[in-house]
Amino acid sequence: MRFRGPPPPRILLNNVSCMRNAQTVLRDINVSVHDGAALVLTGANGSGKTTFLRMLAGFSRPSAGEILWNGHDIASPGVYQQYRLQLNWLSLKDAIKDKLTVLENVAWFEVLEGKSGRALPALELMGLGRLANEKPRMLSMGQRKRVQLARLLAIDRPIWLLDEPSVALDDEGVRLLEHIIAEHRKKGGIVFVATHLPIKMEDAMCLRLPPRFPRRKTFLDLIR
Ligand SMILES: Nc1ncnc2c1ncn2[C@@H]1O[C@H](COP(=O)(O)OP(=O)(O)OP(=O)(O)O)[C@@H](O)[C@H]1O
Ligand SMILES: [Mg+2]
Repeated sequence: MRFRGPPPPRILLNNVSCMRNAQTVLRDINVSVHDGAALVLTGANGSGKTTFLRMLAGFSRPSAGEILWNGHDIASPGVYQQYRLQLNWLSLKDAIKDKLTVLENVAWFEVLEGKSGRALPALELMGLGRLANEKPRMLSMGQRKRVQLARLLAIDRPIWLLDEPSVALDDEGVRLLEHIIAEHRKKGGIVFVATHLPIKMEDAMCLRLPPRFPRRKTFLDLIR
């Protein structure tokens, strides 16, 4: 009889370390991530949350250890080509083009993906339907973040890498973010989130990255 164990993780970080600027930023990280899971990264400014996401995106390579996707090292050329098509990246750089309309700013991502028809419904879900044909200069900070979230929905890839996704969102925006994350996970999608602000996610794993340097005195210590 064949032994049936738990399924292997979709993503496995195996003793991963990462250096930036010749200094070790992340050290010996071990994480198993299955379909439908969420990992929340927290930690002080400079502790390595963005570095962690960049490494998962393949922008930075681990200095030690390996990141496996379906059991294969994402750094190997054949694997990376497939793996990167699984990723949806959201960061503070919003890549919104001023010359395109709000709708076109979502739709061109979708077209690159060979998909169509999702951009407008995604903008509507994000409460931006009314602004679809406007130029992005009409958008507030939070509305620009909502455009980025609409892109996540329009592109619809399984692994979301979200760097501070709730910054600039109002309460309703945060609820929408929580909603789309929950729906994505229900379909088996995976979410990595770096955040300083609380974002409600059921059964999320948490990784608090340690500060990199001994804490120095700040202005707050002086006024206490
Ligand atoms: N482009 C870069 N080149 C070299 N070192 C960098 C670069 N970006 C960040 N670092 C260094 O890597 C360390 C981790 O930075 P990172 O951006 O991952 O932190 P973070 O946890 O995302 O911080 P924050 O909460 O401010 O977003 C920092 O100490 C920083 O000095
Ligand atoms: Mg960061």
